[in-house]
Amino acid sequence: MKSLKQMSVLVTGGGSGIGAGTARYLVERGARVTICGRREDRLVRVAESLGDTCNAVPGDVTLSKDRERIVQKAITHGDGLHGLVNNAGNMYRGALGTLQEEELLKLFHGNVVAGLMLAALCEDALALTAGAVVFLGSIHNRRAFPGASPYAATKGAIEALTRSLAAELGAKRIRVNCVAPGAVFTELNQRAGLLDDEGAFARLQGMADLHALGRIGEVEEVAEAISYFLMAEWVTGTVLEVDGGLALGLTEV
Ligand SMILES: NC(=O)c1ccc[n+]([C@@H]2O[C@H](COP(=O)([O-])OP(=O)(O)OC[C@H]3O[C@@H](n4cnc5c(N)ncnc54)[C@H](OP(=O)(O)O)[C@@H]3O)[C@@H](O)[C@H]2O)c1
Repeated sequence: MKSLKQMSVLVTGGGSGIGAGTARYLVERGARVTICGRREDRLVRVAESLGDTCNAVPGDVTLSKDRERIVQKAITHGDGLHGLVNNAGNMYRGALGTLQEEELLKLFHGNVVAGLMLAALCEDALALTAGAVVFLGSIHNRRAFPGASPYAATKGAIEALTRSLAAELGAKRIRVNCVAPGAVFTELNQRAGLLDDEGAFARLQGMADLHALGRIGEVEEVAEAISYFLMAEWVTGTVLEVDGGLALGLTEV
């Protein structure tokens, strides 16, 4: 198993939630991390709290010029690249009849297309280090939430492309895996304008009993799984559920 020490990792969407938690987890274990996101203030705050080994690069992963700049900065900061964590993502929910085509395309652009394009940009650098790509899937592929078809569809696509890319990049010794988290309190719903902080927290807490382990998750618990995939040298094309048993579909009758 590889060590996280001196590992160079690009974490997209590192200004909040699971991305920020992952950056912290990696930096605390000696990795050199580059985080990106659109809100500069959030990124800078995270990077400043982590010190010099965390590099903040503002940018939008749906823009090709930004992607190129972000990847170059990550390679320079880390003196190469060992890992790409395609964590940036957005939520879009609504009843079928209310869905807007433009919003659906935007969602797929950010949640699916951007990660694929980033993986392509990182391919040569990752081949040099026998590196890893980690995607973020979701419990939405195991449990069905009414009104969440757009988001679930993007996460289904991510699971599918994880397997195809693993098959394609294995010859270059690049591993590709996916972490599928359950309910973790972050800004995802609030940024989409669906709920405020209080409402989002209450909604997730309301799901606690659906978990075999009786509680929602913490960002660090997802970061642990992401880190495992960065280190594990003989694991590729897999999806790891990190969800406190939510996917089990706990049924008490
Ligand atoms: N929280 C959960 O319960 C849960 C469960 C399953 C899966 N996930 C997945 O986990 C990942 C992280 O989400 P989170 O829960 O930590 O939510 P979050 O706090 O909202 O984090 C998502 C991050 O992605 C960034 N981002 C979004 N679009 C971007 C773009 N075009 N370019 C660059 N950065 C972008 C956002 O920053 P800016 O807005 O500043 O760009 C934000 O910091 C997502 O893929 C999400 O789908 C979360």
